[in-house]
Amino acid sequence: MPTIAILSASVRTGRASHRVALYLQKRIEERQLASVDLIDLKAYQFPVFEERLRLLPEPSEALLEYAGRIKSADGVIIVTPEYNGGYPAALKNAIDVLYEEWHRKPVAIATVSDGVFGGTQVITSLTFTMFKIRALLVPAMFPTPKVKEAYDEAGNPTDKAAVDKRADGFLDELMKVVSPKS
Ligand SMILES: Cc1cc2nc3c(=O)[nH]c(=O)nc-3n(C[C@H](O)[C@H](O)[C@H](O)COP(=O)(O)O)c2cc1C
Repeated sequence: MPTIAILSASVRTGRASHRVALYLQKRIEERQLASVDLIDLKAYQFPVFEERLRLLPEPSEALLEYAGRIKSADGVIIVTPEYNGGYPAALKNAIDVLYEEWHRKPVAIATVSDGVFGGTQVITSLTFTMFKIRALLVPAMFPTPKVKEAYDEAGNPTDKAAVDKRADGFLDELMKVVSPKS
């Protein structure tokens, strides 16, 4: 069974986008599509970027662990909020600090906001960043508007049938890239 890493990118106090990460984990497990490695950037509290991992003389254990989790995943879902039309600094940090770990890695992007557009303005900048670092972008979107109305804190959707339908289309596209022949 493949492993899908879900990179939950918000480190904000009182964050809400983590609910979407928890939901996607549950849905992948419900459908037995993959085993899930939920990578929570808030738990790592990485310092602001100084240099890429491969050029750091004494990388922290946490950074090495994080790099290993991205490297060993068969695909990555990035769950990101929208901040002023872009993605959070903590996520840029976590992307730039690695390099070959991202190469040809299937990456799907789930965006989140508390407004009506579901964080979709993030897509342009984040897909270009991931393209530049040589990831394989999955051609699917999973925007979540009004996140606090859409999910409870444990990641249970208010309208499970509707959310499952949208999520399944998104996850199916990811799995086609992760395991093209299955
Ligand atoms: C610094 C900052 C900037 C934001 N900018 C936007 C924005 O440009 N568009 C939008 O729809 N929501 C914006 N929001 C609202 C976020 O979408 C909302 O707080 C959402 O819950 C973010 O995810 P988080 O709670 O996991 O941090 C912003 C929030 C913050 C904290």
